[in-house]
Amino acid sequence: MKETVTYLPNLMLVLESENENRLLITRKPQKKSRQKFDPYSFFMSDVQFKKHRVFRETEDVIFYDISVDESNSSDLVVHTGAAISPPNDLVGAKQFYIHGCQDDYNRVVSGERQFELVNFDWKYPYHIVRLNVHSGALIIPKNTYHRSQSGEEGSIVINQAKRYEGFDSKLEFIPVSAAEVPELYKVLLHEKPVIHTLGE
Ligand SMILES: [Fe+2]
Repeated sequence: MKETVTYLPNLMLVLESENENRLLITRKPQKKSRQKFDPYSFFMSDVQFKKHRVFRETEDVIFYDISVDESNSSDLVVHTGAAISPPNDLVGAKQFYIHGCQDDYNRVVSGERQFELVNFDWKYPYHIVRLNVHSGALIIPKNTYHRSQSGEEGSIVINQAKRYEGFDSKLEFIPVSAAEVPELYKVLLHEKPVIHTLGE
């Protein structure tokens, strides 16, 4: 499928905030016990969200605080249709992005987007996460294979990323085919994904 993605980098959001993390697991793999949230293993154990906060409401207007204290960069990523990013390779194998110097904080501001994540360091390495405007920002730590697909109407995501020293946009967005990474292929083939449903 043709990729229809537009990057509008460096749209900085300046908001002061309180943030909270939320763990949302609605279906766990069989034969494994439910994980208990451990704030000290934040980037090692599971998928996490950075929730927004409603700080003001007037008639027909809601003010959301979407600050991410860790963020030092913001990208706006627009899918104009049912795009898959990155798209499959030429023979149909799934491709993924993996960042070495960036954590993603992907927040849907319009539409719906499904993320597929694989992280070999997580207790459950394979996750599928559906996001909408209520979900908060999905945190994708560096060294996590990830790809996303929009619904038919497309979607808009703001990525309030944390970039580390050495970040180079030319190196961080090189699609990697599962066909070329045996360990990744093995996870996709044999692991049952943890499914995360839409936020409330
Ligand atoms: Fe990313």
